[in-house]
Amino acid sequence: MEEVTEYQKNILGLHLPTDPRWADLANISLEEILTDHAYCEQKAATSCISLIQRYSEKEKLVTELAPIVTEEWGHFRLVLAELKKRNLTLGKQRKDDYVNKLMPFQKKDGSDDERFLDKLLIFALIEARSCERFKRLSEGLNDAYLSNFYRRFMESEAGHYTLFIELAETYINKERVRTRWQQWLAYEAGIMKELETRGDRIH
Ligand SMILES: [Fe+2]
Ligand SMILES: [Fe+2]
Repeated sequence: MEEVTEYQKNILGLHLPTDPRWADLANISLEEILTDHAYCEQKAATSCISLIQRYSEKEKLVTELAPIVTEEWGHFRLVLAELKKRNLTLGKQRKDDYVNKLMPFQKKDGSDDERFLDKLLIFALIEARSCERFKRLSEGLNDAYLSNFYRRFMESEAGHYTLFIELAETYINKERVRTRWQQWLAYEAGIMKELETRGDRIH
């Protein structure tokens, strides 16, 4: 078992690091990594669009998320270009166990505010986890160009994670945001543990 450094444990508040096997990059093809990554960016863009459609009355949210749609779509295009450059093809989208397992924790019968908060926190969590994985890719890929490629993604996803938390705190009492965020982190850690035991690769 790889030793988990304090920094890895604490990155963005996530309770567990990505299963180290996920970073066993020698056994994963670059085509698979880039394909999964491409869909991850595409989903990030569509998620922001859905939030804008659903919460059009929240001016700050609309203003802040509109450029993120462009940015995430730009990320998708960068990954597509990388595939093309390497004569690789965009494969099929795979079932996203990680995201599917996060969903049931959302409050379905709570107040509008509670449901809104959960939507923002789920996206914050997905961004934080992407950021953590890109960090692993950046450190684990034996190629200076790709390592830098992933470091840039890591930085931008870290910014998105912060933005979702900030948006939550704009509309909802900070204490409530913090309490619910801790619950999400604990729940997410359980998912990571479960996926790890099953030996799944996440994304
Ligand atoms: Fe992105
Ligand atoms: Fe993002």
